[in-house]
Order: sequence, then C-alpha cells, then structure tokens
Amino acid sequence: MRKPVDIFDPSHYARTRLPRERAETLPHWVYTDEAWFQREVETLFRPAWHFAGLATSVAEPGDFFTLRLLDEPLLIVRGDDGEVRAFRNSCRHRGALVTDQLSGSCRGLRCPYHSWTYSLEGVLKHAPGLEGHSREELAGLGKDLLQVPCGVREGLIFVHLGDPATAPTLDDYLGNYPSTVAAPHQTAQMVAVQQREYVLDSNWKLYVEVDMETLHTKHIHRGSIGEQPVTVSESQGHWIGVYHESPHTPALYPGEEQTGFPHTTGLTGAAARGTHFSILLPGFFLVTAQDVMWWIHKIPDSATRTRVRVGYAFPATTLEREDFDEVSKRYYRRLDQVIEEDDWITEYQQKGLNASSPGCYVPEEHVVHRLDNWILDQVLHAD
Ligand code: FES
Ligand SMILES: [Fe+2]
Repeated sequence: MRKPVDIFDPSHYARTRLPRERAETLPHWVYTDEAWFQREVETLFRPAWHFAGLATSVAEPGDFFTLRLLDEPLLIVRGDDGEVRAFRNSCRHRGALVTDQLSGSCRGLRCPYHSWTYSLEGVLKHAPGLEGHSREELAGLGKDLLQVPCGVREGLIFVHLGDPATAPTLDDYLGNYPSTVAAPHQTAQMVAVQQREYVLDSNWKLYVEVDMETLHTKHIHRGSIGEQPVTVSESQGHWIGVYHESPHTPALYPGEEQTGFPHTTGLTGAAARGTHFSILLPGFFLVTAQDVMWWIHKIPDSATRTRVRVGYAFPATTLEREDFDEVSKRYYRRLDQVIEEDDWITEYQQKGLNASSPGCYVPEEHVVHRLDNWILDQVLHAD
C-alpha cells in the first residue's frame, strides 16, 4: 500500500473508524512517517500529563530524581515545604544540566559548571560572578529554575510539558483512574525497587498495542504467562484498562503463583480480587496487582525509536520482609522475561510494517481498536 500525499486526510482512516468486526488496522505510515509522528507529539504527547515517578522516591525534603521526557531533561524534587515540584533540569546561567545524577538527596541544587545554586524550591540563592548582588537583586534577575506543572495523585507523580494555558487539569486528564484503580490498589504505598530505561527500534504505538491485547500471549509468552481472561474497565478520562480477576498474582510464572508475597494490606473492591492492566494515554502502561505494581512507559524519540522506562514497585511493608531479596528474584525473573518478549516482538513487527497493507482486529484485539481510534481522534481532530 503506497503512502498518500496527504496523510492527514481522514478518508485514509475511515476503515479503522468502522466497528471492530469490520474495521481495518492503521496503515503502515502511521508507524514510520516522521510527519505523522510530529503531529502525534503536538496533538497527543504535548497535551498529555505524563508519569514521572513515585512520590515515595522523593519521600523527604531534598530527595530528587531526574528523567528525560520528550527529550527534555527534568528534575523532580521535594521541597522543604514538603511539596513535590518538577523543574527543567537546565541551569538558568548557561543551560548546563543542574545535575546528571539519576537520584539522590541534597540541601540545595548546585550546577557544577559555575556553581550557581538554587534552593529546593528552585529559587536562585547563590550566583558566582554576581557576588555583589543582594538577595533582592538576584530575585530581580528572574533566573530561578523553570518550573513544570506537576501533580501527585495516589503517590503517582505526573508532569505536563505542553502549553499550560491549554492544558487539561490533571484530574480531568486522569478521570476516574485514581479513584477506581490507583486508590483501591494502594499505589501511594508502593516503593520502586528497580527502574531502567532503554531504547527500542520500533514505533511507540506497537508497544502500547501489544500491552493491551491477549491474543499474542499464548504465542509470545508461551512459557511466561498463563491464561489471563480479562474484562474491560469503565474508564472516564484518558486511560483504557482491562481487569483480570484471580486470587493469584499475575507476576510469577505459571505454577509459582503461590510462592510470592502476601497481598498488599488495605486493598479494596476489585483490587483485592484481581489485577488492573491500564494504559494512561498515550504511553504509560501500569499494572497494579494484589502484591506488586510494575510499569512500562513508552516515550518516543522518533517515529521508529521508542524510549522505554520500566519500573517495579512493592509495598513498603513487603520490602521490610526478611525474605524480600530471595522472593523478589522470582518476580524479577518472570517480569524481565515477559518484557524481553514484548521488546523483541515490537522490534520484529516494525521490520515488516513497510510492506504491509491494513489488516484486521480479531475479538481479543478490541482494546487495540479502541486505542487506535483514540489516536486518530487526537491526530485528526476528527471528534
Ligand atoms: S551553566 Fe550553570 S552555573 Fe554556569
Ligand atoms: Fe505481551
């Protein structure tokens, strides 16, 4: 199928808009074309609220961590006033990173280049080269660290990198996710134990799609995931979720499910009986189980390169257990394998896409159909 001249003409996507039974998948250029990708950045990544990390990772004043989202270096810090803030990790003197540490704890933020120093609230306190300036004069320079909109819901830190004037509120963006999934699963008491980041040669959508269908499970995860029937969650806001009811954790190998940690204390409702697999759109996949939480966050670098941030978290009380190191290894082994399998298949799929014509969505792929239509809604402003 040849790429048309005007790839933003909605008529090219009319078949994806049909009911799932008759719909066709998205054409290949939406997974490879840089102009399409740039439109996605403007229409769905910039306007979105993005997960940055866990509030428990910055539990005390002075605790900080850094990350890169949409190629912007960010610094998340808890201030002396207890508030979590996000800053552009870029010194207001001549733009160096304020810090290149992944995480740490400090009393102030000092740029290593010329030692300009900022308070935990981002206020410029000390500026070598401007020694004669009083505190008021320094304030008058307007060179405090640039703050980025940031909010914490149920222990999850979110940031916004688009135009604040047109940004949806964080609560509007998340809709009923915090109340129906995050709070019942006690996400606020989760502590990150492993985090890593790497880049895949595939379009970000391929990985979001594979997260939300169960058809591939018996082919790609033959030895690592057992049967996981799911139902669709009622979602308002920019998230899509499925729910798997089972008394057993989904985070251990089939047959090993009984050898894990006890359930998190305080789980309520459906969270006490099963696992939610959710995409907080566009690319934050968060799995909240009865004993563990993990995420696979997809942030694109380009149409065909995707930055993947993976994290595993357990309740603080689980970390205190004497058998934590021994038992957690079983979780890591299984989760690492599943992620490697999905990493592999998304890069593999990307290699074949250029030669493809649109396919179809089978019943187990109904969430992929919904997801692809959400993407069309944003990119084409069709709704
Ligand atoms: S660039 Fe940071 S102090 Fe000069
Ligand atoms: Fe998978």
